Amino acid sequence: MADHRTLVAGVDSSTQSTKVVVCDAATGEVVRTGRAPHPDGTEVHPDRWWEAFGRATANGLLDDVAAIAVGGQQHGMCALDETGEVVRDALLWNDTRSAQASRDLLDELGGPAAWVERTGSVPVPSFTVTKVRWLAEHEPANAAKVASVVLPHDWLTGQILKQGNAFDGHVTDRGDASGTGYYSAADGAYLSDLQKLAFGREFDTPRVLGPSDEAGRTDAGLVVGPGTGDNAAAALGLGLRPGDVVVSLGTSGAVFADHSSPVRDVTGDVAGFASATGGHLPLMCTLNAARVLTAAAQLLGTDLSGLDRLALAAPPGAQGLSLLPYLDGERTPNLPEATGTLGGLTRTNATPENLARAAVEGMLANLVAGVEDLRQLGIPVDRVLLIGGASASASVRAIAPALFGVPVAIPAPAEYVGLGAARQAAWVLGGARPPEWQVRIEATFDPPPGGDHGVLERYDALRTRLYG
Ligand code: XUL
Repeated sequence: MADHRTLVAGVDSSTQSTKVVVCDAATGEVVRTGRAPHPDGTEVHPDRWWEAFGRATANGLLDDVAAIAVGGQQHGMCALDETGEVVRDALLWNDTRSAQASRDLLDELGGPAAWVERTGSVPVPSFTVTKVRWLAEHEPANAAKVASVVLPHDWLTGQILKQGNAFDGHVTDRGDASGTGYYSAADGAYLSDLQKLAFGREFDTPRVLGPSDEAGRTDAGLVVGPGTGDNAAAALGLGLRPGDVVVSLGTSGAVFADHSSPVRDVTGDVAGFASATGGHLPLMCTLNAARVLTAAAQLLGTDLSGLDRLALAAPPGAQGLSLLPYLDGERTPNLPEATGTLGGLTRTNATPENLARAAVEGMLANLVAGVEDLRQLGIPVDRVLLIGGASASASVRAIAPALFGVPVAIPAPAEYVGLGAARQAAWVLGGARPPEWQVRIEATFDPPPGGDHGVLERYDALRTRLYG
């Protein structure tokens, strides 16, 4: 029997893979999915994303789909020449080579407060603005070819629109534009003086569409939405309420909330991004999350379930062992050249169990700081919603409530970035508001009465001792 439902597709083009969900536009029920991996590394040619999109949607995945939108990893610099060709591999959000460029830009505009005043955020090496500065300084021949700079989701949306005559220049949305470092989310405008400051001259930027504007249609009649950054898409997929704070444990660790007004954090820990619904998405991001657990498992000669077993066999607080989990350098706190540190090691606590527990506690402690930062900025924190690959870990679920100090809810495992993009696609098809889709909460864990057993205090003390 023919399926008479209206179907929409959402794409999550992330650091590690492309995932596509096809959903019923009315209910959000997932009808089918596809995925394909991306190459590893912090720079990649955008063609690899398009190839992965092709593999993920092979075998008719998009048949009968009415609309599509893309959620993509934020900040990546896709530099294009005047014919629209890619000038060099895209530098991704987790590439820290622009650390010096970010320090220089900070000083040149007059410090963090000046950047927050103009853009809502303090640029760290993840931000596109620091990558264009790096390009201008280190690859002048490539820089000379650059006519425009777009982000990963802008580029992929453009590729989809090119499947027909619908392409009329790249488009983006406020959410992703707010992560460039040369766009003001509060004013809804690009800042050409900051482009010039960073790159020595202006370059073209994608047209910023509204949250439910149509970007165009392919020849096959597929309606294309504006898309957004992955965190803004996850927020849309989760249908956040006031008091909800998301802690996402993926390749990056991200802490964010949907908020009606812009925040200004001059410490730079919380970025003043925009949401995909016309509001704001204050966000704290770390470079170290799920992969801290894989590294710890590797160190202990086990796998992730082995790590869980070990961590749960250790007492809370790992008998005083603490891990600063800056294995890939760190973005918040802004320590791009940092490495991991094990503190408080004694002969008594030197066990595999304590090391496993210290890894889980350290990864989470890094993100607890983000929840605290949001609270300090006046954002209500009634519960934490834990999502991302590492939220499936039994030890993470068991340890998180004591460290966050509020109930920790686990939404049913789902591709929330893809779902958010699909929900945006459904919104573009019709309706003044995004459709109401139910999000199932699998379990909620309350903080235990015993507190955190000094984990956060020891963690802070170690960090302060090493980095001030
Ligand atoms: C957010 C950020 C990361 C990437 C991951 O600012 O850089 O969360 O979006 O894909």
